[in-house]
Amino acid sequence: MNLQNRTAVVTGSSSGIGLHTATELLEKGAVVYGLSRRETPIGHDRFRWIGTDLSVPFEIAAAFLTIRELAGTISVLVNNAGLGIFGDVETITPEAWAEVIGVNLTAAFLCSREVVPQMKQHRSGTIVNVSSIAGKRGFKGGTAYCASKFGLNGFSEALMEELREFGIRVCTVNPGSTDTEFFDRSAVQPNKRMGPQDVARVIVSAIELPDDVLADQIVVRPL
Ligand SMILES: NC(=O)c1ccc[n+]([C@@H]2O[C@H](COP(=O)([O-])OP(=O)(O)OC[C@H]3O[C@@H](n4cnc5c(N)ncnc54)[C@H](OP(=O)(O)O)[C@@H]3O)[C@@H](O)[C@H]2O)c1
Repeated sequence: MNLQNRTAVVTGSSSGIGLHTATELLEKGAVVYGLSRRETPIGHDRFRWIGTDLSVPFEIAAAFLTIRELAGTISVLVNNAGLGIFGDVETITPEAWAEVIGVNLTAAFLCSREVVPQMKQHRSGTIVNVSSIAGKRGFKGGTAYCASKFGLNGFSEALMEELREFGIRVCTVNPGSTDTEFFDRSAVQPNKRMGPQDVARVIVSAIELPDDVLADQIVVRPL
């Protein structure tokens, strides 16, 4: 997809992988809307931040209503927002569990629902779901996070099969450890980490492939 003047929505745009993905999309000529609770530190005439708590369904609906009013057709959705809350199963509170599932999994479903009807109409569009290697392999302390990311991988794969006949591409990107604020809340501190700008480059490269080519599963990890 040639990104020039295409409208893209990136969730979790205020830091890390989302911030760099929004920046990279802008460099490729896209009009970018970023959704996050904290303001996104990008000053660009083709960028607009819409303050949104993605754990609140009506805030998601309101954000997409605004984007459709301002921009019309949305060509790209990057479901990137996510958080990790780690710990033994008896220390993860039901509230923490609900937040992790809500942002990492349910928000991806809700945001996708917002863009699919238009994409079907145009028989074109790309949805990228930023999952994790934790969506492919469980690890100690990761019950909530792994459940959310395994769920996201299942959602993403099923959505890919559902939408490919409509000319819509769904791509799952599974990063390994990446040097972002994500680890501020984590007891685990991996030694090897990728730069978020490198993961962003992988995401945008997948979007830029020709419209009839789909990189449906990407694993990217530090060497
Ligand atoms: N870092 C890693 O090693 C790693 C590895 C694999 C996968 N990932 C995945 O990559 C994605 C991006 O993470 P990151 O590493 O870039 O971490 P990050 O720097 O902490 O960024 C997380 C983003 O998600 C947003 N977010 C969290 N809760 C939100 C909510 N309720 N409503 C709206 N936005 C919310 C944050 O925005 P606000 O706080 O402003 O709302 C922030 O923009 C996540 O899905 C994460 O699971 C990360």
